[in-house]
Amino acid sequence: MWDGGFCDSINLRWQPGTAALPWYCLGHVGYAVVPWKQRLGHATQALAQLLPRARAQGLPWIEITADAGNLASQKVILANGGVLLGEMDKPAAFQPGRLRRYRIVLQCSADSSTAGVESSRPTMARAKK
Ligand SMILES: CC(C)(COP(=O)(O)OP(=O)(O)OC[C@H]1O[C@@H](n2cnc3c(N)ncnc32)[C@H](O)[C@@H]1OP(=O)(O)O)[C@@H](O)C(=O)NCCC(=O)NCCS
Repeated sequence: MWDGGFCDSINLRWQPGTAALPWYCLGHVGYAVVPWKQRLGHATQALAQLLPRARAQGLPWIEITADAGNLASQKVILANGGVLLGEMDKPAAFQPGRLRRYRIVLQCSADSSTAGVESSRPTMARAKK
């Protein structure tokens, strides 16, 4: 995104015909804002603008993970309708730590939570309170 200068990058990751992701891909979306332009709403806006594009690809939902301690990223997700699915350890190939996984439903049908494709990670543990 630009506001007269470079602000941030955001990317959508998906495989055609499925919402599933390979194990090494921790979520459908990644984003980062340059430090000098953080806390201005850029990430929240960027994710909002990405959602129609994800929907246009036929994805019934997207899942986004954030480090459990990354409250800014979690606020971005929540501001865009994200619902916490659970918390888990990162896969062994990654730096150790806990991840929180959120889902943003993109389709409005009553059975949107199960429409189209199966969850990529249906056995994830619930978040600890
Ligand atoms: C996470 C990140 C993308 C947020 O970008 P941003 O443009 O600053 O986010 P926004 O301005 O949309 O802010 C969203 C919320 O987070 C809050 N926030 C932003 N930075 C924060 C910080 N460092 N500490 C606490 N809260 C913060 C904002 O105040 C806002 O809260 P509000 O909704 O209550 O007003 C940015 O901090 C970043 O690039 N971090 C490094 C990369 C990263 O963590 N990417 C995400 C990987 S999942």
